[in-house]
Amino acid sequence: MSDPTHARRASSFGSQAAAYAEHRPDYPREAIEWGLSGVTGTPRRVLDLGAGTGKLTLGLVALGLDVTAVEPDPEMRAELAKVTPTATSLDGQAERIPLADASVDAVFAGQAFHWFDVQPSMTEIGRVLRPGGVLVPMWNYEDDSVPWVAEFSKLGRTGVSRAWTDGGQQPATHPLFEPFESRTFPHAQRRTAESLVETIATHSHLIIAEPADRAAALAEIRGFLASNPHTAAGEFDLPLRTWVFRARRIQPC
Ligand SMILES: C[S@@+](CC[C@H](N)C(=O)[O-])C[C@H]1O[C@@H](n2cnc3c(N)ncnc32)[C@H](O)[C@@H]1O
Repeated sequence: MSDPTHARRASSFGSQAAAYAEHRPDYPREAIEWGLSGVTGTPRRVLDLGAGTGKLTLGLVALGLDVTAVEPDPEMRAELAKVTPTATSLDGQAERIPLADASVDAVFAGQAFHWFDVQPSMTEIGRVLRPGGVLVPMWNYEDDSVPWVAEFSKLGRTGVSRAWTDGGQQPATHPLFEPFESRTFPHAQRRTAESLVETIATHSHLIIAEPADRAAALAEIRGFLASNPHTAAGEFDLPLRTWVFRARRIQPC
């Protein structure tokens, strides 16, 4: 993880923690359940890694699981504590997880796995997962099969987080894990033009942009939304797809 821009972006979210909590989407229940169904045996203890303000943590808690959220940024953890008081929240990161060996049945990472140092983090995730447990990275993206959405998402895309889902890069392999399988699920977020601009403003490349560049990028997006009949007035559903990957922790022979 030697790219300084990548590191700055990875640690940028805390400055926008309240906006993140207000404007980023949650995850569909079926997507979480599909990830969880990769576990051999009954899942009970789950880790949400890079949990941020708790968007995915909430979905895991709603399934009645015993959830630990690990997140390095104190401002993101403060937002998480407001919405998920029943989940345990800990300071930590993917490469140094503050949990015991083989202590969880599943490790989820919502919109976060692309910020991890992949091989060291998979070794560390493999340590805290019990054999037969599952690693589940997942991402929400605009649904580019809808023509206006494809046009819109080109304005805000940077390519970092879409590496696995654009077909440009194969999912990681690691000796502690079976190969990743993946599925996508339809999802949507209720937005107005202005709240969608607020959502995009929480993306890391815009958080770290120079103020003038950030303002220009948001003005371009605002202009697109104002001229698009689907988004120009009132509320609309922004079509999303949730991409879920799952890889099982190998059982010793
Ligand atoms: C885009 S946010 C996703 C938050 C949340 N999981 C969600 O679904 O909304 C990415 C989060 O990953 C965290 N993060 C960045 N680098 C990390 C690392 N190496 N280990 C764990 N978390 C990390 C950031 O602090 C941030 O809260």
